[in-house]
Amino acid sequence: MNEIDNIRTSVLSRIKPKEPEKQKLVALADNLISRINAIGISEGLDISAILVGSTARGTWLSGEHDLDIFIMFPPDVSREYLQEKGLYVARKMAAQAQSSEERYAEHPYINAVFDGFEVDLVPAFGVASASEIKSAVDRTPFHNKFVLSRIQEIEDDVLLLKQFLKGCGVYGSELRTHGFSGYLVELLVIQYGSFMQVLEATREWKPGMTIDIEKHASIAHDDPLVMVDPTDPARNVAAALSLDKLCIFMDKAREFLKNPEAPYFSMQAVVPLEDSDFKNIMGERGTALIAIEFTTPDVVEDVLYPQLHKMEDSVREMLERYDFRVYNSGVWAEEKAVLVFELESGSLPALKKHAGPHVWAEEHAAAFKSKYAGSNAFSNVHIRNGKYMVEIPRKYTQAKELLEAELPKCGLGKHVALSIKKEYHVLENEQMLDIREKNFREFLQTFFKK
Ligand code: CTP
Ligand code: MG
Repeated sequence: MNEIDNIRTSVLSRIKPKEPEKQKLVALADNLISRINAIGISEGLDISAILVGSTARGTWLSGEHDLDIFIMFPPDVSREYLQEKGLYVARKMAAQAQSSEERYAEHPYINAVFDGFEVDLVPAFGVASASEIKSAVDRTPFHNKFVLSRIQEIEDDVLLLKQFLKGCGVYGSELRTHGFSGYLVELLVIQYGSFMQVLEATREWKPGMTIDIEKHASIAHDDPLVMVDPTDPARNVAAALSLDKLCIFMDKAREFLKNPEAPYFSMQAVVPLEDSDFKNIMGERGTALIAIEFTTPDVVEDVLYPQLHKMEDSVREMLERYDFRVYNSGVWAEEKAVLVFELESGSLPALKKHAGPHVWAEEHAAAFKSKYAGSNAFSNVHIRNGKYMVEIPRKYTQAKELLEAELPKCGLGKHVALSIKKEYHVLENEQMLDIREKNFREFLQTFFKK
């Protein structure tokens, strides 16, 4: 056996579900499906439950105990009817679960735990083709059919690619990750034929490229990677994938091809940063760290993370507008949300050079001169390179003061704005060591080391 085969075998022995796991999963899925169908019959509802997602396709990673069960309604019922009856059936099921939670995507569904398996119970319209969908989840049964018709013999390659992407930290299409979805991985393996052939293919990849398995694309997309959905010519399966997550994969694929090793398939353990390490690192870097801490709004991650990143962008923009140069930034959230900014310096001199209009713009000139004449400026209004210039006191010399005073004026998403309005704290340098959560300390480690 060659090196690659060895790696394949040893990684697969770890990630490929074995018979008992498969049987347990199939038995649970069958049981849940017949219970949903029985509720349909007793309530006189024209519904049928189906298993979809990676567990229906034999492409789930061992130990990932997720079942996606769809409750299919006739396509001609109204959205209100589907939401009401769908939730009714899902709630009846959830009543017998270990625990459950109602969640909201395009319409409500339930995530419940049965026998230690996380089960999504999702109502959907059983439309005739994926181009007639009434809600985004209606595509999923078509994905299932397409993948099942093409995936035989290459399921192991899907598992390997999923695990490789996990090792790179780029698996998962949620708006928190911006990485590769399970369906995208399946389509890549279908397109190129094997795990190794996908890696080889990435050598030729350029951002903006399109893969169109069915050669039926109907609209253009402006995304780093376009994978036209074989079941829907208008949809890009890779729409959530960011440029950097795509490039991380391309880079790691190249490294692996040069030097194939099993650790590429494992997640690197991140060591939480200790107080003393933090102090050393900050001392060496010579930069300033500033954090904004507030209560995380109670919304799903796909709503939360876009708002946190929007806040990150607008705070960065505000810091720069007030002359604080931002080197790095990041977001972290559990019960508390924390935005961290690394600055060239957290304090600036009292003096600020302020430029006015060109001397030949007479009316602006007069206004500028009268505004600053005799004010508490450090200098007279003078001329440099054809423009009026004055040296004045800076409004905020400390980044911390700026954020304490002006943060609520930043462009913020709805839920984040509400939380900030109630309360937030600005922490500077060692003050953020008061945040003791292990996951935050891991985040800080990654913040510095990248
Ligand atoms: N789906 C999709 N687009 C997404 C998320 C999900 O089209 N952004 C559809 C896909 O058909 C997917 C199914 O919903 O197969 C189930 O989603 P999920 O559980 O997230 O992915 P899986 O394919 O089951 O992969 P995993 O092994 O990670 O569970
Ligand atoms: Mg799944």
